[in-house]
Amino acid sequence: MSSCFLRVMLFALCALWNLPELVLAKHAGITRHYNFDIKLQKVTRLCQTKSIVTVNGQFPGPRIIAREGDRVLIKVVNNVQNNITIHWHGIRQLRSGWADGPAYVTQCPIQTGQSYVYNFTITGQRGTLFWHAHISWLRATLYGPLVILPKRGVPYPFPQPFKEVPIIFGEWWKADTETMINQAMQTGGAPNVSDAYTINGLPGPLYNCSAKDTFRLKVKPGKTYLLRLINAALNDELFFSIANHTVTVVEVDAVYVKPFKTNTLVITPGQTTNILLKTKSHSPNATFLMAARSYATGPAAFDNSTTAGILEYEHMSSMSNTKNKRPSVHRPALPTFNDTLFAMSFSKKLRSLATTKFPAKVPQTVSRRFFFTVGLGLIQCSRNQACPGPNNTMVAAAINNVSFVQPSTALLQAHFFGKSKGVYTTDFPANPPFKFNYTGTPPSNILVNSGTKVVVLPFNTRVELVLQDTSIIGAESHPLHLHGFNFHVVGQGFGNFDPKKDPSNFNLVDPIERNTVGVPSGGWVAIRFRADNPGVWFMHCHLEVHTSWGLKMAWVVMDGKRPNQKLPPPPADLPKC
Ligand code: C2O
Repeated sequence: MSSCFLRVMLFALCALWNLPELVLAKHAGITRHYNFDIKLQKVTRLCQTKSIVTVNGQFPGPRIIAREGDRVLIKVVNNVQNNITIHWHGIRQLRSGWADGPAYVTQCPIQTGQSYVYNFTITGQRGTLFWHAHISWLRATLYGPLVILPKRGVPYPFPQPFKEVPIIFGEWWKADTETMINQAMQTGGAPNVSDAYTINGLPGPLYNCSAKDTFRLKVKPGKTYLLRLINAALNDELFFSIANHTVTVVEVDAVYVKPFKTNTLVITPGQTTNILLKTKSHSPNATFLMAARSYATGPAAFDNSTTAGILEYEHMSSMSNTKNKRPSVHRPALPTFNDTLFAMSFSKKLRSLATTKFPAKVPQTVSRRFFFTVGLGLIQCSRNQACPGPNNTMVAAAINNVSFVQPSTALLQAHFFGKSKGVYTTDFPANPPFKFNYTGTPPSNILVNSGTKVVVLPFNTRVELVLQDTSIIGAESHPLHLHGFNFHVVGQGFGNFDPKKDPSNFNLVDPIERNTVGVPSGGWVAIRFRADNPGVWFMHCHLEVHTSWGLKMAWVVMDGKRPNQKLPPPPADLPKC
């Protein structure tokens, strides 16, 4: 029987049941099982041993590898004193919002001694993503790569690499991060900046007492390597470069892009980037550092250190022996820490493939428009608090002047069972409460309000959202992450968004599609997405300190009319609060 005939039959069957073909086709994948045993593990970095929360005692955590179309079941067993949730960052979770993971948004946390099985199917996605804890600051040590290979037999739209290597950036504190953030939240002070950045859990040779904790990538000459870069750092966007090597960017956030060459990349927390590294045709008598350090634009202190791994060619040592010369070490030149122009020009190079196989499905028309200011402000502390800011205030972060308050029960359950009263309100503002020069001199009143507010969207709403940075405390780049969707970045610029002029320059042809975008420091970015996934979807700054301070909100996407447009009921083992 020809496959064409089968497809016609399948199509007829689907038409009969009023189901998209996709729903049946997705069962082509297999089911993969993982066990995540959450436990403490002693780890030594920078000459100091501390006990950290890990998955299966591993740091960074285990890799999840699946293919497009597969179903993934991860049983998470909590053996530590902390409450735990895990988020599969960038997975669309089509009609499986119960498996998304943000604490008190889609689920109550898994308590000590309890377990929960995350159950989702990977539909229409392939590339690099990652998983991380999504409660408090536990993702400081609970994170790992999530690699989605194309369906069996389907090639990449770029040369088949000789080898694939995940490179996951992290951030390391000598202190206990849970104690640190809990204290900071109580006193209203800022938490300490990290002591090191890491590559695959290792700070590398540029820190004291760290040379042996260096990631080494041994390569053969004349080969192409696919490096799967992931920024799992908590609070820092990063510049990354490999000395004396040019790389080709081929994918971001598990979406293929039009390939382009570069020496240096920008990658924000929550973003992933696949690059092709073509090694030199002959082993040079040298090693090359691959280094990352902060791209920092805000007024606050930041970790100004540099993590490095070593790229070394096979047979180099034997060759250097014959020449009797020590190999030289090359260091890459990275932009200065606040090079916003570089960050903007890099992000403007990213374009969707926009081919028949990989079309850019950007909504050409819009049904609802939103304009959100994002940034820091001050919040009034209660009388029994002693806060460090002027007139007993502390720093808060807000979207449209609302600093989001985490509820004590999960939003998704409240929504699904019609019990939202007392949990959230549906009056999240579509526009800022008052207009001002967002990127100019701050207004006289910089106090923000707090609340648990959401935006409700009918199924299939075509959303346009402009995210506008504010300079109230200081202009700063904010990597905004949306759960449950990819969006298209249709425009960006510096200064204040101009609703009359700027939309005429929007790219509706091949805009990049992704799940996390940097709102330019002192600028704006416009995104579009189709609300075709029923559930409650978190959106927040992926700088964890800003999330703690309230730079977050949620979208409630209603069910559609058809059976396959509705969110199924929760699994029986969904944790209770
Ligand atoms: Cu990577 Cu809401 O998270």
